[in-house]
Amino acid sequence: MELLDILLLLATLFFSLWWQRWCTTVQGPKNLPPGPPGWPIVGNLFQVILQRRPFMYVVRDLQKAYGPIFTMMMGQKTMVILTGPDLIHEALVQRGSLFASRPAESPTRLVFSLGKCAINSAEYGPLWRALRRNFAAEVVSSARVKQCGWVRKWALENHMGRLKEQAQGKGYVEVMAQCRLTICSIIICICFGAKLSEEWIKNIESVLKEVMLMTLPKLPDFLPILTPIVARGQLRRAKELRSRQLGILGPLVRARKAFVESGGSPSSGPLDMASPVGAAYVDSLLRLDPPGRPGGLRDEELVTLCSEVINAGTDTSATVVEWALLHLVLDQREIFDIVGKDRVVHEADLEKMEYLNAIIKETLRRHPPSHFLLSHAATEDTVLGGYNIPKHANLEIYTAWVTQDPAHWPDPEVFRPERFLPGGEGYEVDLTGSRGVRMLPFGAGRRICPAWGLGTLHVGLLLARMVHAFRWVPIPGSPPDPTETFAFTMVMKNPLKAVIFPRV
Ligand code: HEM
Repeated sequence: MELLDILLLLATLFFSLWWQRWCTTVQGPKNLPPGPPGWPIVGNLFQVILQRRPFMYVVRDLQKAYGPIFTMMMGQKTMVILTGPDLIHEALVQRGSLFASRPAESPTRLVFSLGKCAINSAEYGPLWRALRRNFAAEVVSSARVKQCGWVRKWALENHMGRLKEQAQGKGYVEVMAQCRLTICSIIICICFGAKLSEEWIKNIESVLKEVMLMTLPKLPDFLPILTPIVARGQLRRAKELRSRQLGILGPLVRARKAFVESGGSPSSGPLDMASPVGAAYVDSLLRLDPPGRPGGLRDEELVTLCSEVINAGTDTSATVVEWALLHLVLDQREIFDIVGKDRVVHEADLEKMEYLNAIIKETLRRHPPSHFLLSHAATEDTVLGGYNIPKHANLEIYTAWVTQDPAHWPDPEVFRPERFLPGGEGYEVDLTGSRGVRMLPFGAGRRICPAWGLGTLHVGLLLARMVHAFRWVPIPGSPPDPTETFAFTMVMKNPLKAVIFPRV
């Protein structure tokens, strides 16, 4: 036997012993939820990677074998996956404060969150509470949403103009790109109080898209032992991108600061500051003195907090509009007659548009923009469903299964807005999941999306205006393709293009 063979034999022996021990300690005496057997060191990581398909499809298949709660060992990360509505309700609502934290972040993500100084990534504690309360009062309270009605009016007028222009130029409309631009312009204006040019908004959109790409989980996030070899380059690229993010949003923060300090003088800077002092998100952050940040928030932190809101609010809502419109294009459902042909849809009309609201809910059920919530974590070691949940584990809540499960929704693949009309199985469903979980596109409990009302308002307004003004039909000879793909949210693989005809 040669030396190499001996070494190989010893290595194999060592690994099999280690694996046996690992399997019994991880899923045995530790009493974690059951899960697929993994490989030494890497656990289930490469089994997932080798499947070469989005993680949600792997999870969808595993839940058939392992049920409503199971464990995946992703490298050095323990992931507990929840798919059952009762367990989800128990974790997020009944015992909400226990499961309301967020797990540790990768070094790359920390570059952008500045040590978790963002609502979505902050651990459950005083900083998160201060940031979230401020956001709830200053951005999404009903008074503030009403005050910012002019922003939506301005952005929608531009939107309708662009649709006509694109239809005349290209012969069709690119739904997703147009809606993203409009929603992004609304949220940027809410943040900085300024009306920016389309070019500027597109630049911000593209840098923030790069940030989202950069912060998606990568191999060293699961195997930190690789960090010294692989992640150094990644960290350098992350810092470069962070500089570009600061370069594009920093001037907006500083311009708003100057405007506030000047008491609202229009000559305080080059931007068209359309919101009065006190009305923009940045204004409230300048006044905030959150725990753990002595002296208040710095400009860099304001950039992080505004970026999170732009990212969180743009793709999610635009994705819903695109999927809803796909079904309107395919099925030619009529929703415009509620308003009448002769006037423009106002925000106040939306509540009365029962069928439109049913379409939005059915779109959120059939095409939830995200199939998982953001990762949750327990604030201390605890027990759920009879299994131990360690504090350091990632708790991943696979919400898409809740609305795909035929046991809870008949014909779940069929798009049928009538489910949400009187007499339908979804009529009484509570979108926030607080009374029980039948669907949770926005999460539930302490970490529920704080802007779910604003998000649905954007979706409703865009849909109502677009469908009221135009008839939408497929491009002749090129029917829309409903294949889905993951791009931060679950979007159409081939973005929807449609031909429009003015209704009058
Ligand atoms: C249709 C539109 C939207 C959908 C489907 C959606 C969905 C979600 C989901 C699933 C979460 C994670 C909840 C959890 O981890 O338990 C979330 C969190 C969040 N969303 Fe939304 N969202 C939408 C619109 C918006 C908008 C318009 C904004 C801001 C203007 C926003 C800001 C946030 C923030 C800041 C969080 C983090 C909350 C926290 O960790 O406490 N979202 N959203």
